[in-house]
Amino acid sequence: MYGMVNKAVQDLLVTNHGEDVWHKIRSKAGLQDEVFISTESYPDEVTYKLVVAASEVLDLPAESILNQFGRWWVLKTAKHGYGQLLAAGGRDLGEFLQNLPNFHTRVSMVFSALQPPEFRCTEVAPRQVRLHYLSHRRGLSAFVIGLIEGLGEMFSVAVQIVHEQKAGDGVDHDVFLVSWNDLPTS
Ligand code: HEM
Repeated sequence: MYGMVNKAVQDLLVTNHGEDVWHKIRSKAGLQDEVFISTESYPDEVTYKLVVAASEVLDLPAESILNQFGRWWVLKTAKHGYGQLLAAGGRDLGEFLQNLPNFHTRVSMVFSALQPPEFRCTEVAPRQVRLHYLSHRRGLSAFVIGLIEGLGEMFSVAVQIVHEQKAGDGVDHDVFLVSWNDLPTS
C-alpha cells in the first residue's frame, strides 16, 4: 500500500498514545528504521505488521485498531490531506456511498500504482443501502466499518451497520447493510 496509509497509522498512534508507545510498536513490527514516504509503495505486509504490533502493545483486538484507523482516515487523513477528493465524493452520506464504486478511480489518477478495493452499492430503502466490499486483501472489514462510521460523523448522521456477509470459507466478499438517520437535536 502507498506510504500514506502507514503514515496515517503512525499519526493515529502518535496522537492517541504518544511517541514512546509508537516507537515500541514500530520496533515490535521490526520497522524501527523505516521512513514512510506518502507517494511510495510498500508491501501490504508492512501495514499488517503495524496493526498486529499495535494490537499487542496496546492490548486491544486488531479489529479495534482497524476500526479506529478507518474513522481516523476519513476524519483526519482524508479531510486534511485530500479534502477536495473527499468533497467530490458526494454532498451527503447516501450520495457518497452511491459514488463509492468510482471513488478510487479518481484517487488512481493521482496515485497510479493504487490497488484499490471494489465497492458495489444498491439502495434498499431511503437512507438504507447494501454495500458490497471486494478486495484481494483479507481481514480489513473492521477498517471498512470504521470508514463508514467516519463518513457518518463527517455528514453528521447516526449510522447503523449490519455486517450481513463475511468473506472467508467459500464466501468471496463482505456485505454491509448501512442505514442512517439524523442525529437527535439536543
Ligand atoms: C480522499 C480519500 C481517500 C484516499 C486518498 C484513499 C486512498 C487509498 C489508498 C492509497 C489505499 C491503499 C491501497 C494502495 O496503496 O494500493 C486505500 C485503500 C483502501 N481504501 Fe481508500 N482512499 C480514500 C477514501 C476511502 C473511502 C472513503 C473508503 C470507503 C468508505 C475507502 C476504502 C478503502 C479500503 C477498504 C482500502 C483497503 C484496501 C483493500 O481493501 O484492498 N477509501 N485507499
